[in-house]
Amino acid sequence: MKFFIDTANLEQIKEAQDLGILDGVTTNPSLMAKEGITGRDNILKHYVAICNIVDGDVSAEVIATDYEGMVREGEELAGLHEQIVVKVPMIKDGIKAIKYFTDQGIRTNCTLVFSSGQALLAAKAGATYVSPFIGRLDDISTDGLNLIAEIRMIYDNYGFDTEILAASVRHTMHVIDCAKLGADVMTGPLSSILGLLKHPLTDIGLAQFLADYKKGN
Ligand code: E4P
Repeated sequence: MKFFIDTANLEQIKEAQDLGILDGVTTNPSLMAKEGITGRDNILKHYVAICNIVDGDVSAEVIATDYEGMVREGEELAGLHEQIVVKVPMIKDGIKAIKYFTDQGIRTNCTLVFSSGQALLAAKAGATYVSPFIGRLDDISTDGLNLIAEIRMIYDNYGFDTEILAASVRHTMHVIDCAKLGADVMTGPLSSILGLLKHPLTDIGLAQFLADYKKGN
């Protein structure tokens, strides 16, 4: 399972990268705005800064919602760095743009996916990644994890290569449940990754080992 961090915060990206287990980064316009990164030039520079920190894929989202605009923006984003994956929204023109990028050998992440039918379309268009937003489904009393299970079954039925990127992961249990269901990738905040470290018995056991060592030395 690949671990992506879902942030545009360079310090958090560095912290995750330093752990040695980071496989990539996802961003979106809201995450950029949260870090105060505004204006096209600054946003493009920020993507390059992220690529220079991590070894893996970095999703960069188009803002246009029409086919020609998405193609223009996506080509510019893909040209920034070889690690860039063009993030395209799940809309009609987005599917056309994903198919175009697929034919051009440009990798894509189909974002804002909330149903298995949408995920099927993304795979048919050749998306590299599909991003079902599980946290946002949970927010409206719909089981986000069930969507991961459905997409896994559909993709396995037909051998689609599109990787299931569980997005809108909010906490550590989301990560574990996505791993159980066979998601290829998860993207979440740094806290969802660091939370995997925690167990009180680990802390108690380590304290005991150190105390016993001190007794004999
Ligand atoms: C994924 O690519 C999105 O950036 C993200 O996971 C959305 O998460 P949120 O629902 O917590 O905003």
